Amino acid sequence: MKIGIVGSGKMGSVLGRLLASAGHDVTMSSSRDPESMAALPETLGVSVSVGSVPQAVEGAEVVILAVPWTAISAATSVVDDWTGRIVIDPTNNRSKPGPDGVIDIGGRVSSEIVQELVPGARVVKAFNTTPIPILESGLGANANGANAVYIAGDDDDAKGVVAALIASIDGVAVDTGDLVTGGRLQGTGGPLSAVFEMMTPDEAKARLSDAISQ
Ligand SMILES: NC(=O)c1ccc[n+]([C@@H]2O[C@H](COP(=O)([O-])OP(=O)(O)OC[C@H]3O[C@@H](n4cnc5c(N)ncnc54)[C@H](OP(=O)(O)O)[C@@H]3O)[C@@H](O)[C@H]2O)c1
Repeated sequence: MKIGIVGSGKMGSVLGRLLASAGHDVTMSSSRDPESMAALPETLGVSVSVGSVPQAVEGAEVVILAVPWTAISAATSVVDDWTGRIVIDPTNNRSKPGPDGVIDIGGRVSSEIVQELVPGARVVKAFNTTPIPILESGLGANANGANAVYIAGDDDDAKGVVAALIASIDGVAVDTGDLVTGGRLQGTGGPLSAVFEMMTPDEAKARLSDAISQ
């Protein structure tokens, strides 16, 4: 699958490495000139292309928005047309770990705001609930039975594509609901946020049931 990754920091790099290792056609981008990212494939140890944000999004079936919360508006606004893309949103509305790092979004669900910034795209929230080194420890070549990844979104077809993408890196998607319901459960301060371990799909479903009944 052709995948564009916007943001080449901790989250973007790990997902880029996992997805390229699984044979996907990955283009990475950041806030910088693509020429300054020329060493990235060697650093990641996989075959990825580098480009500007519009180049990463161009022709991509799936785009991953791996940028800080405060950069989402700037990062998405350089793309003229988001129509038809599936956008994976791993972001959390925080500036740093801990209670002081939470960015006030007025009680809204963060992925709702992201959806407004990519009109015509279908947003699926995923990969946001667990620190990326822990997530990496359960996916791809490291995969064992603890490989669940929560996803939320309004479009079942888009969630199916993202679930297949997660399966391609040896994970199992666990659906938490639509973008508002699941997004609230998965989002900053939600009962499925800040999960500091990989879970089996059964464990993740049990935690989801507990979260829904809270
Ligand atoms: N790290 C984790 O464990 C983790 C876990 C769950 C969720 N998340 C979420 O994942 C997102 C990314 O986190 P991270 O830890 O990967 O951050 P990071 O290491 O700071 O990387 C952020 C990346 O975003 C890029 N960026 C910033 N502004 C941009 C713009 N206007 N256009 C294009 N790219 C831009 C940066 O580009 P430059 O390199 O050019 O500065 C950098 O490559 C955040 O929303 C975070 O809440 C992270």
